[in-house]
Amino acid sequence: MKMPLTFMLNNQQTTLEIDARQTLLEVLRNQGGMTSVHRSCEEGECGACTVLLNDEPVNACLVLAASVQGASVLTSEGLVKNGKPHPLMKAFTDELGIQCGFCTPGMLMNAYALINRAGDNLLTDQVIRKTLEGNLCRCTGYVNIIKSVHTAQKAKLAGEWW
Ligand code: FES
Ligand code: FES
Repeated sequence: MKMPLTFMLNNQQTTLEIDARQTLLEVLRNQGGMTSVHRSCEEGECGACTVLLNDEPVNACLVLAASVQGASVLTSEGLVKNGKPHPLMKAFTDELGIQCGFCTPGMLMNAYALINRAGDNLLTDQVIRKTLEGNLCRCTGYVNIIKSVHTAQKAKLAGEWW
């Protein structure tokens, strides 16, 4: 059954024609053109499809698209501002937190929510590891990913953030 879905996608009101059985992952990639939302396990195990739904990280492969009617969805495309990479993206590049990049968009969205939640409290390695444990990196670059999150938080605390 076809239906219209209206929601905020990367801060823009968006209406897409969807099939009522589609997952958010399918709709974001196929109708929404958000190809940073990666498809891998499709059973909530790898985190490659992580997006923010009303500011909270979710696995888009486990969310029925129809359920996000009226909600706000942020993908890593939405972090880019006027063509400029977000400081979180810059931190991942500078600290070599990216290898093949397959896990990176999902990792970024989870890290973005974590840093925003932390406020002025400095994140520990342990908290970062625990938060990102659902985002699997097949290149196993976890040490540099943790460094990237620390660097990104410093950028936020220095006021370089949006
Ligand atoms: S594709 Fe969604 S968690 Fe793996
Ligand atoms: S950078 Fe390759 S899967 Fe993580």
